[in-house]
Amino acid sequence: MNKADIGLIGLAVMGENLVMNMESKGFTVAVYNRTVDKVDKFIEGRAKGKNIIGAHSLEELIANLKSPRKVMLMVKAGKPVDDFIEKLLPLLDKGDIIIDGGNSHYPDTQRRTEYVESKGLLYIGAGVSGGEEGALKGPSIMPGGSKEAWPPVKPILQGIAAKVDGHPCCDWVGEGGAGHYVKMTHNGIEYGDMQLIAESYILMRDMLKLSNDEMSKIFAEWNKGKLDSYLIEITADILSYKDEENKYAIDYIMDTAGQKGTGKWTAMDALEEGVPLTLIAEAVFARCLSSDKEQRRHAEELLGKNSPKAPEDKEQFVKDIENALYAAKVISYAQGYVLLRSAAKTYGWNLNFGGIALMWRGGCIIRSAFLGKIHEAFTENPDLENLLFAPYFANAMKEAVPSLRRICSYAMQEGVAIPSMASALCYWDGIKTFSSGANMIQAQRDYFGAHTYERTDRPKGEFFHTNWTGEGGDTQSGVYNA
Ligand code: 6PG
Repeated sequence: MNKADIGLIGLAVMGENLVMNMESKGFTVAVYNRTVDKVDKFIEGRAKGKNIIGAHSLEELIANLKSPRKVMLMVKAGKPVDDFIEKLLPLLDKGDIIIDGGNSHYPDTQRRTEYVESKGLLYIGAGVSGGEEGALKGPSIMPGGSKEAWPPVKPILQGIAAKVDGHPCCDWVGEGGAGHYVKMTHNGIEYGDMQLIAESYILMRDMLKLSNDEMSKIFAEWNKGKLDSYLIEITADILSYKDEENKYAIDYIMDTAGQKGTGKWTAMDALEEGVPLTLIAEAVFARCLSSDKEQRRHAEELLGKNSPKAPEDKEQFVKDIENALYAAKVISYAQGYVLLRSAAKTYGWNLNFGGIALMWRGGCIIRSAFLGKIHEAFTENPDLENLLFAPYFANAMKEAVPSLRRICSYAMQEGVAIPSMASALCYWDGIKTFSSGANMIQAQRDYFGAHTYERTDRPKGEFFHTNWTGEGGDTQSGVYNA
């Protein structure tokens, strides 16, 4: 067999499926796995008769690659990535490329890019989204790192990526950790979308007392309109799924949400950047609250259970939920894009926001028709400060926000927790308020700590202190801002 176009390390389900995808697009792939039995099993099984070369050592893997060698790691994020880099470095030559396709944290990718480049090699940290099926049939791929590495890997990564209207859901994102930053933000948005769907479900289940089949039909209907997306589609499927015993699976799945950390990273980064990413942060906290079922049992027994009443017009309420979900989703993406803009400034990345929407338009977990509209908004105005200011979304919000307000008011009144929808409404109302209450916070800070304030009747950048009690004197505290 000829030498391989690319080598892949890590034959777990994502790795195997990516190999099968690459091979189906005409690339020859060499594979290696730390437990080498897996290599033989794969070669004798799914890979039989395909242009796939099994290697039993890293040396053998590297010897089977065309130059410049491209080695993709599909291993657990964290130490395993560093360990493989260390093992690969002595085996590779100048200009060879290491690609990390796992969910690595972007500061690690930033550091690894610098390290690998310092050894004369090139590095790519690529976010890969789409789960098992995406990996096999076409994921969304978000590569960043050493710019020089992009032209040689571009045909492979764009070749295997999902396509929407013939356009690959993969393009160069930026230097250093940019690719993994965008993937992290994708995952944060994924948390927000999933939480909003869970809130819509709980409103229909606990307030309207709808059956699983009724809810499934509603989600399937929503999937034909402005909410058309992969996550809405699978929600409809999940709700109608019955097991061998004819029981609805959703009814016995424990309501304790897991998380591997990418949503938390997004929220933490928003705090670092000082960006109000409230909806995603609430989605992360909602998973945390869900995970302690025993505490919730105790609280329900001790503090009392709410018994929400159904609204009179159930049909209107379902329409309102659809609009509320849509309005909150717009807010979530608006916040996500503000975070991306802020990070681009911090790290000196020239992010193409419309291009990112196109990458997310297909293949990934958050894929939706909606992302096509975001792409259009950024194509019209690449410098768009906030998605809410794009004419299309500003109009859509005018129509949808009254529903969000009705849903939030009713849920609050009846005691149904919908933290992400509520945070969306607070953000909407907050951002539209030129005259906020933060003057009180500034006054309090100055009162107890002489932290100073700016005045509305003086130019910005001039700081004042008031001797509120007549005892504090004129000493001001040092100025620093988080
Ligand atoms: C994707 C997914 C993928 C993974 C999530 C799950 O884009 O294909 O986001 O990366 O399934 O990270 O995350 P949690 O376990 O944190 O929900």
